Amino acid sequence: MLKRKDLIGLYDLSAEEITEILDVAENMKKLLRQGIKKLPHLQGKTATILFYENSTRTRTSFELACKYMGATCINISASTSSVKKGETLIDTGETLDAMKNDFIVMRHSMGGAPKLLAEHVRASVINGGDGMNEHPTQALLDMCTMRERFGRIKGLKVAILGDIAHSRVAKSDLFGLKKLGAEVTMYAPETLIPKGIDRMGAKICKSREEAVEGADVVMGLRIQLERQQAGNFPSLDEYAHFYGVNREIFSRAKPTAIVMHPGPVNRGVELTGSIIDDNASLILDQVLSGVAVRMAVLFLITQYRNQQM
Ligand code: CP
Repeated sequence: MLKRKDLIGLYDLSAEEITEILDVAENMKKLLRQGIKKLPHLQGKTATILFYENSTRTRTSFELACKYMGATCINISASTSSVKKGETLIDTGETLDAMKNDFIVMRHSMGGAPKLLAEHVRASVINGGDGMNEHPTQALLDMCTMRERFGRIKGLKVAILGDIAHSRVAKSDLFGLKKLGAEVTMYAPETLIPKGIDRMGAKICKSREEAVEGADVVMGLRIQLERQQAGNFPSLDEYAHFYGVNREIFSRAKPTAIVMHPGPVNRGVELTGSIIDDNASLILDQVLSGVAVRMAVLFLITQYRNQQM
């Protein structure tokens, strides 16, 4: 059983822990598909969603996961909270502790912020994305969608293309997929490949064709428009032309291959519109997996906390 107060990153989790979360998420996803959105697992619990960066998917799916399982859930936006008056992260966390809050789901621009908070608060901290470090529940939901489609993770070839250097999703996906036995290939302009990622198990390819050849999963990552000003690539049009995934590139993957993207997508940049809307695209299934995985994580941590009481 998952024996953790917090979920900070997939770097820390064993293959067995990841598999347990995916097993529970699979069941949650079945319930969601049946329209069952009223479960008792978190009754009496309180969760605070504390996001210092923008979000649609992660914030909403955590909130729905809490509500579907009976928790009280509140949202704090950093821009309207006392953070604006200079309150520190730890003081904010201790304030929430004093209110008997059980979970802090947190997104922060600084890598390591959720870990720091987790070391100082009684509440369980779940990382909803920290800087360029990790986005563990995104990688778990990606694996949930892959495992449902292929029945396994072991032996899959997953090609990841896009802004890998600035992507917390790429790192969490790499850690999780390698632990469960997948092969991970990556391709991007050299300026968007972080140094040393090959030593973490990724195969860095010399072309899109090489990365995608025979892949089971082709995953695009968002080109962070703000990076263009940093001169990491010449223009969005040129990025799409030389590095994006179009129908011709996708045809090199296996006939059974799927398209994935964590969102938000820049249509026509990392993936063409026709690839996004293709039957092979499971981007919206990833969104459903997101609710299921977040339900599973909240439930498993609650079980562990109840045992500690
Ligand atoms: N994938 C993801 O983290 O999306 P949001 O930024 O909308 O939460």
